[in-house]
Amino acid sequence: MSDNNSYPVRADIAQQAWADETTYREMYQQSVVNPEGFWREHGQRVDWIKPFTRVKDVSFDYHRVEISWFKDGTLNVAANCLDRHLDTRGDQTAIIWEGDDPADDKQVSYRELHEQVCRFANALKSQGIRKGDVVTIYMPMVVEAAVAMLACARIGAIHSVVFGGFSPDAIAGRIIDCNSKLVITADEGVRGGRRVALKKNVDEALTNPAVKTVEKVIVFQRTGGDVEWHSHRDVWWHELTQLASPHCPAEEMNAEDPLFILYTSGSTGTPKGVVHTSGGYLVYASMTHQYVFDYKDGDVYWCTADVGWITGHTYLIYGPLANGGTTLMCEGLPNWPDSSRMSQIVDKHQVNILYTAPTAIRALMAEGNAPIAGTNRSSLKLLGSVGEPINPEAWEWYYKTIGDERCPIVDTWWQTETGGIMITPLPGATALKPGSATRPFFGVLPALVDNMGNIIEGATEGNLVILDSWPGQSRTVYGDHERFVQTYFTTFKGMYTTGDGARRDEDGYYWITGRVDDVLNVSGHRMGTAEIESAMVAHEHVAEAAVVGYPHDIKGQGIYVYVTLNAGIDDSEELKKELRQWVRREIGPIATPDIIQWAPGLPKTRSGKIMRRILRKIAADECENLGDTSTLADPSVVDNLIADRANRR
Ligand code: PRX
Repeated sequence: MSDNNSYPVRADIAQQAWADETTYREMYQQSVVNPEGFWREHGQRVDWIKPFTRVKDVSFDYHRVEISWFKDGTLNVAANCLDRHLDTRGDQTAIIWEGDDPADDKQVSYRELHEQVCRFANALKSQGIRKGDVVTIYMPMVVEAAVAMLACARIGAIHSVVFGGFSPDAIAGRIIDCNSKLVITADEGVRGGRRVALKKNVDEALTNPAVKTVEKVIVFQRTGGDVEWHSHRDVWWHELTQLASPHCPAEEMNAEDPLFILYTSGSTGTPKGVVHTSGGYLVYASMTHQYVFDYKDGDVYWCTADVGWITGHTYLIYGPLANGGTTLMCEGLPNWPDSSRMSQIVDKHQVNILYTAPTAIRALMAEGNAPIAGTNRSSLKLLGSVGEPINPEAWEWYYKTIGDERCPIVDTWWQTETGGIMITPLPGATALKPGSATRPFFGVLPALVDNMGNIIEGATEGNLVILDSWPGQSRTVYGDHERFVQTYFTTFKGMYTTGDGARRDEDGYYWITGRVDDVLNVSGHRMGTAEIESAMVAHEHVAEAAVVGYPHDIKGQGIYVYVTLNAGIDDSEELKKELRQWVRREIGPIATPDIIQWAPGLPKTRSGKIMRRILRKIAADECENLGDTSTLADPSVVDNLIADRANRR
């Protein structure tokens, strides 16, 4: 095995894992040579009401992009996550909830979760929600967030979860785009000992005159904090569920009926409502969860993602529950009250599988080993990483310090649009190389193409594309199929464009190098430069803004903003502070600029296009090597920016 150091598969792990190297090769081969046969067989892993006869109906041709899986089958996703486990594991813990306060926790069995979901499903119906309606969920990390999602799935409503850190404007934009009829929220959330005014944010979002469809707001009481009450519209969760029957039949859904919409940032425009459907998504979520994490009955599995992101959908809720697993949901932050928290939780609940993000690992690593010295983490047998490239130093630290050199690490590459994990090691099959997401999951056909779209073979670097569909793939952008086609299927014809660059080594391992478009990845959170720019220019003093990413030790990428002020406005430290606050308010704290540099002019081509390549170089302190600057309209602009760099921050 070449390329850096590598860690061979341990024989004892290979022996008991769902897949060893031979099984992986055989199954992978079958999955790409005969996808119909492969997925016909593995499609049986979920319970169908009416079995499917068709497996795959796919066209990646940009004239008529169509993606359907199992399209004549019917099922209910919530029934697959709950009802089918009741006979065999009704009393098993489905969700372990760990509160923000380390003294707060509880366990919810499959039977209890089923009852709560049925009651809340009836509550939704009592508020007029029917199959096909869209429901916005803006919740903290409480069990009721999972209940809300599963209740929607039970009655065939489409959920759109909005991350609890987003601003009223961001909520409003998402509600308007999908015409949701109802919002589910909580009075307040609690994170890191601080309260987050969720209901207040929803109230503010609903004052936006363009929000016309929301009829009701259901409020879960988390803290008992003061909230404004609009009695024609607002209803308490506990009052509704007290009245509701605990019996609610699961709606029969077509495999291709939408399960949820999740908004995600792209290189241009407002966030897109990525649509995932029911059958293929669930098959793929449950299969990846089982094989990638080598999930076995009785394992305690902890995914640290928030329900507001795709990882929280697929690997906190749907994958583990479809597999009858025990999933841990943590309300708080991994480093609060102190940086030993994550390891404390592992010990307290005897966690076997831990799935987290490189940014959390780097933040812990920066604290040194002392804070975790008092924990033993001996229950752990597997570690996972997701959301951004993991640098080899962080990988090694995770492996040696958190996993005591005992636990394989699965570095999982995937996206909101892919629904589930695409490139990843399997713990019993894949020798690991720190920093590489390694090899494709079953049914996934990755390739590298040059900028002309030619497939390039062997050890090389290029644009990462996927050549054929897999069941978990997103089907469309909500309300705008043309945008879906444009974004993913026109850059390189006949292939799914991921927007990522990657290198492939001599062993066929993939190394994701990061986005090749104008999308940032800040602490594993995806953000469009265009969104931050449009928030910036909405400020009365800002004439123009250009946003780029720059390397950041903990966050992976930081947000660097070049700002041109309106004529007559003086720059000042106070104004920088105000602009930071402004973006926080417009989008949410995760979009807060790390560095603002005043830019009396921005480097543009003669046709007026901002040359971001140059701005990225300046932000990354690579001014000696700016590349071709011959198309600049006014080269002195760049010299001035470089000279002014000292003034940034
Ligand atoms: O750039 C890749 C990066 O995150 C992007 C997808 O972001 P999002 O849709 O928010 O989903 C994040 C969770 C699946 C990708 O285009 N990314 C995700 N996982 C990895 C990664 N980059 C490198 N290595 C990974 N393991």
